[in-house]
Amino acid sequence: MEFSATVIAVTGFLVISFLLSTAVGSTEDFIAVSNLRRKSPTASLCASVIEPSGFPCSEHITHTKDGYVLGLQRVSSSSGAVQPRGPPVLLIHGLFMAGDAWFMDSPNQSLGFILADHGFDVWVGNVRGTRWSHGHVSLSEKDKKFWDWSWQELALYDLGEMIRYIYSVTNSKVFVVGHSQGTIMSLAAFTQPDLVKMVEAAALLCPISYLGHITAQFVLRLVKLHLDEVILAMGIHELNFKSNLGTRIMDIMCDGHVECGDLLTSITGKNCCFNNSRIDSYLEFEPHPTSSKNLHHLFQMIRKGTFAMYDYGMWKNMRYYSQLEPPVFELSSIPSSLPIWMGYGGNDALADVSDVKHTLKELPSKPNLLYLDNYGHIDFLLSVKSKEDVYDSMLAFFSSLGRSSSY
Ligand SMILES: *[C@@H]1O[C@H](CO)[C@@H](O)[C@H](O)[C@H]1NC(C)=O
Ligand SMILES: *[C@@H]1O[C@H](CO)[C@@H](O)[C@H](O)[C@H]1NC(C)=O
Repeated sequence: MEFSATVIAVTGFLVISFLLSTAVGSTEDFIAVSNLRRKSPTASLCASVIEPSGFPCSEHITHTKDGYVLGLQRVSSSSGAVQPRGPPVLLIHGLFMAGDAWFMDSPNQSLGFILADHGFDVWVGNVRGTRWSHGHVSLSEKDKKFWDWSWQELALYDLGEMIRYIYSVTNSKVFVVGHSQGTIMSLAAFTQPDLVKMVEAAALLCPISYLGHITAQFVLRLVKLHLDEVILAMGIHELNFKSNLGTRIMDIMCDGHVECGDLLTSITGKNCCFNNSRIDSYLEFEPHPTSSKNLHHLFQMIRKGTFAMYDYGMWKNMRYYSQLEPPVFELSSIPSSLPIWMGYGGNDALADVSDVKHTLKELPSKPNLLYLDNYGHIDFLLSVKSKEDVYDSMLAFFSSLGRSSSY
C-alpha cells in the first residue's frame, strides 16, 4: 500500500511538472531536463530577462489582502524615446509559469516586448509562490499554510490586487492579457463588480473557465488516479520541480522510461510551432512552483465540469460558504460592456474547443475570436510565428477600441 502510494506520487511529480509547462519538446531534447538543476537566476526579472534586451524596466511590490507580497514589473518601449506612456496592460501568466513567460523569445516574437514597443505601459504579474513574488508578511514558504490556496485566491486576491495597484498608480483602467490559468483567474475576477470596473478590456489566450472536456489523455489518467488527493494526503503542499527531489525524480523518470516528448503532446495537445532548440533557455526559468491545493482545485473542475470555488466537501463547504456545494463563478455576471478578445486552438488539449464554446455561450457579450486550427496550448505563448498568427490580431482589437492614438 505504502509502496504503491509512493509510485503514484513519484509518477505524479513527473507528470505535474509537464502540466501546462513549456518544459519539453521532443525526446532528443530531453537531456535538457538536467537544466532544471541549474540554479534559476536570483537577480530580479527586470535585470535577468527584460533589461538585457534593451527595455527599460522597474520593479514594484504590492501586498494582497491575505498577506502575500507580490512582485510586478513595469516595462516600456526599447526605443528610449521620452513619450507619454500608453494605456496600462497587465500580463497574467499560466500554471507553473511566471512573468518571464511573456519574454522568453526574441523581442519581435514575445508578447511582453511587442506590447511595450507598441507604446503600451506593460505591467507583468507574478502570482504568489512563483520565484518573482516575495513570500508573505508572516508565513515562511516552509509553512504548510503558505501553500493553502488555489486559483480562487490567485483570482480574487492576487489578480485583484495587481489590477487595483496598477489602476491607482496609472490612474487609468487596465487592459488584461491572460494565458491559460491566467484566463481562469481573469474570468473569475471579472465576475466581481469592484474589480471589473477597473478593467478596460481583456485578451484571453487559451481561455478556460470550464475544463469538463479536456482531451489530454495523460491528465485524464491522473485525474482518474486521484493523484491530487494522494499528494495532499502525503503532506506535499508545494509543487516545486526545481527542488532537489523534484529534479531527481524527473531525471529518473525521463531517463528512457517515458516518452517525454509524447508526454507534452498528451498533456497540452500537438503544438505546431514551438521552437525545440529553445527548450534549454525556457528551462532556466520554468517551471515555477505552485500549490498542491491548486492542482486539486483544477482536477475538481475536470471531474465536475463546473466553474466554481474550491470544494472542501459538504461539511466544510457549509462552514466556508454556508451551502453544501461551492458557489459557482457566474460568467453571466461579467458586464457585456467589457470588450473581450479570445485566441484558441484546434489542437489545444486543455482549452478544448467545446469548453471554449461553453464559456462563450454563458458570456453576455460576443467576444472577438481568433481560432487557429493547428495551434496547441503552448503555441499561443511560444510559437515562432505568434506575432503574425496571434498578437497582430490582439493588437488590432486593442486599437479598435480607440483608447489612445499611441498604439
Ligand atoms: C526578429 O529579430 C531578430 C533579431 O533579434 C531578427 O534576426 C529577425 O529577422 C527578426 N524577425 C522578424 C520577423 O522581424
Ligand atoms: C529557435 O531557437 C534558436 C535558439 O535560440 C534560434 O537560434 C532560432 O532563431 C529560433 N528559430 C526561430 C524560427 O525563431
